[in-house]
Amino acid sequence: MFYETSDNRHGLPHDPYKSCIVPRPIGWISTLSAKSVVNLAPYSFFNGVASDPPMVMFSANGPAQRPTKDTLANCADTGEFVFNLATWDLREEMNRTSAPANPGADEFELAGLEKAPSVLVKPPRVKASPIHMECLVERILDLPCADPKGRNAMVLGRVAGIHIDDRVLTGGLIDMAKLRPIARLGYMDYARVDFVFSMDRPGPG
Ligand SMILES: Cc1cc2nc3c(=O)[nH]c(=O)nc-3n(C[C@H](O)[C@H](O)[C@H](O)COP(=O)(O)O)c2cc1C
Repeated sequence: MFYETSDNRHGLPHDPYKSCIVPRPIGWISTLSAKSVVNLAPYSFFNGVASDPPMVMFSANGPAQRPTKDTLANCADTGEFVFNLATWDLREEMNRTSAPANPGADEFELAGLEKAPSVLVKPPRVKASPIHMECLVERILDLPCADPKGRNAMVLGRVAGIHIDDRVLTGGLIDMAKLRPIARLGYMDYARVDFVFSMDRPGPG
């Protein structure tokens, strides 16, 4: 099958687009508002986009009734965010933080999560998450948005510091069997990363 995205007539019961980009890592993003209210929400349009210096991105797709999501507003106002890795053990808490909460609400409290202070930025970390990246907003890029009243914006962040819990290391390497990250698929589906294989890169021609 083939369909053009301009009219989205794929003929399937659900839009297949997100199921074609899988698995998507989940950026579980903590921020502070200008008034120092803590915010936490998952973003699966998330990825690492460069390694030297390390940079990550996520994008907030806001509908007409709430074009600018709190995470995006906070990044614009304070220039800082923290990426927390979502794991199998934290899946329910991660999901709870996706509920549309009042901007005055602390989603750590709503999800029953403890905070840990960050070193270089002000937003706190999810204490129970084994990996965190403290990030400085490099750029916010407004993307085209089909709904003229909505907003699609991509936040690009420079990773200033990385925390790794020693308990997920085996012989100095991050051990996926200990980390058990989760990733977003299409529809309401998720994957748990627990099958790992290695391949050597081919040599020159
Ligand atoms: C696993 C998961 C991934 C999500 N990914 C995105 C995303 O990439 N972009 C987006 O705009 N919303 C995404 N959402 C929805 C937001 O988490 C939700 O709109 C949330 O209320 C935003 O919170 P905030 O306004 O505090 O930033 C996702 C939700 C879940 C559960």
